[in-house]
Amino acid sequence: MKKRWWKECVVYQIYPRSFCDSNGDGIGDIRGITSKLDYLKELGIDVIWLSPVYQSPNDDNGYDISDYQAIMDEFGTMEDFDEMLSAAHERGIRIVMDLVVNHTSDEHAWFVESRKSLDNPYRDYYIWRSGKEGKEPNNWGSCFSGSAWEYDAATEMYYLHLFSRKQPDLNWDNPVVREEVFRMMNWWIDKGVDGFRMDVISLISKPAEFADGVPGVNGYSGFDEAANGPHVHEYLQEMRAKVLNRADTITVGECSGVTIEEAKKYARSDEKELNMVFQFEHMDVDAGEKGKWSDRKADLRDLKEVMTRWQKGLEDVAWNSLFWENHDQPRSVSRFGDDGAYRETSAKMLATCLYMMQGTPYIYQGQELGMTNVPFVRIEDFRDIESINAYRELTESGVFSEEEMMRYLRYKSRDNARTPFQWSDEENAGFTTGTPWIMVNPNYREINAKEQLFREDSVFHYFRKLIRLRRENEVIVYGAYDLLLPESEELYAYTRTLGEEKLLIVCNFAGREVSLDMPEEFCDGDILIGNYADAAVKGHMTLRPYEAVVLKKI
Ligand code: GLC
Ligand code: CA
Repeated sequence: MKKRWWKECVVYQIYPRSFCDSNGDGIGDIRGITSKLDYLKELGIDVIWLSPVYQSPNDDNGYDISDYQAIMDEFGTMEDFDEMLSAAHERGIRIVMDLVVNHTSDEHAWFVESRKSLDNPYRDYYIWRSGKEGKEPNNWGSCFSGSAWEYDAATEMYYLHLFSRKQPDLNWDNPVVREEVFRMMNWWIDKGVDGFRMDVISLISKPAEFADGVPGVNGYSGFDEAANGPHVHEYLQEMRAKVLNRADTITVGECSGVTIEEAKKYARSDEKELNMVFQFEHMDVDAGEKGKWSDRKADLRDLKEVMTRWQKGLEDVAWNSLFWENHDQPRSVSRFGDDGAYRETSAKMLATCLYMMQGTPYIYQGQELGMTNVPFVRIEDFRDIESINAYRELTESGVFSEEEMMRYLRYKSRDNARTPFQWSDEENAGFTTGTPWIMVNPNYREINAKEQLFREDSVFHYFRKLIRLRRENEVIVYGAYDLLLPESEELYAYTRTLGEEKLLIVCNFAGREVSLDMPEEFCDGDILIGNYADAAVKGHMTLRPYEAVVLKKI
């Protein structure tokens, strides 16, 4: 396998709105980020993925961009950005921009023009279709409820928006659109940014025919219809040649609806498209009968099956990202671990289980503290467009009762990941001196960075150790992965092998003791790391609740 720095690095995702507020307006900002770079340096990460900081009317918190070359007023100025970039570089930290080019904001100058008339020079920048018998051109649904088509009276046609109606989809089949995007990306590269995380990049090439898809619970079809379209690989190869190869960039494609076969094209080691994919199959293992909205707990065997299929499927051919969390997912300790008595232990176990695999690790802000889901009470507590729209649509149509939907939101809403970062036990978790834009999780008095930095056995220090281990042991980055005990409902056990080196990773996903017959070759192995201080390896071993150990064969 080819060695590459972006396979060896650790990425930390910042959601700027919720990270650190420097001026007391209740909204995180760029100067806030700059003030916390030393904290990130101490954690030991190499790369920051910055969720969007561009000018935006914030229909979807910055994922609806009205100017790709300006900074959102609430977040600061371009001078603040340049200062942050050089302060990060001084510390050896790279910055990856969020590239949101499947769609723009409807307030972007291109769309403002496009909707004006049929012969406007920008008309073909977006996807316009006539209605069918007075209705939408097809049954595609928006990710944020309702139809994916919006009627526009000025020209009596519909435009496509796979996300909110304020996020019209760009027409990538238009070569002028591609040139505009590539020019903009080159402008950021010339500024010195280190790469791009590409938002829903698997959706940019729409099928030639807009055929109806299979309807879901709300009567509309999902965006799988638009995933991995006919020209997506062609367009990414063009981007690679015209932009990405101009610098030593790191690129990760958010690939919704991608299969392993497709992932091998996006992130193949022949390096013609992207460095790695960021895919979601393991995030679907706890879906319910009616899709995402459910509070069903995952069956560990399903999780292992999916993770293993991707580990083996991409081995030696392509590269994956390792994540349990991001700004679109609930907190992993509440989802796959225990956010009560075993919060710290299970947060460490989950990290061990994931970050000893093959792929580039991603840490989402607060995950390194074991931050939890949030006790939201009313729909008014939420800020996320997906959650608010889904609540309205699915309760009004009677798919779920209000109590049910509230329970599902409390479990799965994206806002669980978006409450302010918990810096300290001071007012508002030390995030702001003003009124935060979204509630602070009331558990900040116990769970906060200040307390954890101070305490050697905290989740924070455990993450530091895991990061250090990846640096010191090539086998963790490049070794082959093999699953053990596929049928166990409690234990996730696997090995990593590189030449003579071999590691065994055992994680107990249950809140009770589980016994294990240690494979002989590890019986007198070295313990590299574990989440109980007094772990001891024996032939017949009992793992305590949420215990994790990593052993090295000697
Ligand atoms: C991606 C982003 C998500 C956003 C959507 C539309 O999935 O991660 O936050 O809402 O794309 O841009
Ligand atoms: Ca602010």
